Amino acid sequence: MKRLAGRRALITGGARGIGEAFARAYVAEGAMVAIADVDHVHAAEVAESLGDAAVAITMDVTSQASIDAGVAEAIQRLGQIDILVNNAALFSAAPIVEIERADYDRVFSVNVAGVLFTMQAVARHMIERELRGHIINMASQAGRRGEALVGVYCASKAAVISLTQSAGLDLIRHGINVNAIAPGVVDGEHWDGVDAFFACYEGKAPGEKKQAVGAAVPYGRMGKASDLTGMAVFLASDEAEYIVAQTYNVDGGNWMS
Ligand SMILES: NC(=O)c1ccc[n+]([C@@H]2O[C@H](COP(=O)([O-])OP(=O)(O)OC[C@H]3O[C@@H](n4cnc5c(N)ncnc54)[C@H](O)[C@@H]3O)[C@@H](O)[C@H]2O)c1
Repeated sequence: MKRLAGRRALITGGARGIGEAFARAYVAEGAMVAIADVDHVHAAEVAESLGDAAVAITMDVTSQASIDAGVAEAIQRLGQIDILVNNAALFSAAPIVEIERADYDRVFSVNVAGVLFTMQAVARHMIERELRGHIINMASQAGRRGEALVGVYCASKAAVISLTQSAGLDLIRHGINVNAIAPGVVDGEHWDGVDAFFACYEGKAPGEKKQAVGAAVPYGRMGKASDLTGMAVFLASDEAEYIVAQTYNVDGGNWMS
């Protein structure tokens, strides 16, 4: 028996990277998925490659109208939403004295408001239909501890951990489990950008930062998106029924809490 047989999942930021890996893992476990992303071209390609089990939805989590329309479209095309993965996020980095308000607004609008108001829209649907759903928010090891050049992103991910706790405690009375995953350093387009930033700010050669962070992981290498899919499937499944408001580190041993 597949672990998510018959479940319907909405994954924000599912057009690439970790979100795409989750979409593929959920379909492999029997779920149908709605891949919701601002990048509708890649979202459509991923959905098409998954056949009848997936649909692509254009959704910008910074816009309430787009969240409402995207959630309504997912309900209409999948029938209902049992699982939400709040995965869409932006990275940003700058020394504290160089952070611009516009960048703070941009990052918090996706990483914090996007998580909160997508969670709210889907939770309302789950409560109305008495679905006892599962919500998974993507936090980060960056939310566990500040970093000198990454103040805004770290603060946004700390907010995701806090929102997961509050929403988890509030929504469990409706039978909705809210938990989070805190990855460490996961190779992919996201980290290509991080590497380029550090190349600029720390005078490193391209690839040097990635090499250093990978070597520093106790497991011995950077993570891959596929390292996270086991936790994502588990938290979406019935096996996670008694787990409430938690954030799980899946980071090769980088952080302990
Ligand atoms: N890659 C890492 O090392 C790492 C580490 C810790 C946590 N995370 C978290 O895991 C999640 C996925 O990371 P990733 O590396 O796959 O990221 P990524 O940058 O590769 O993909 C993010 C996706 O989100 C989409 N997106 C951006 N803004 C959006 C918006 N306003 N509305 C809808 N979609 C939007 C992008 O189009 C993209 O498809 C993020 O929450 C990230 O913060 C990643």
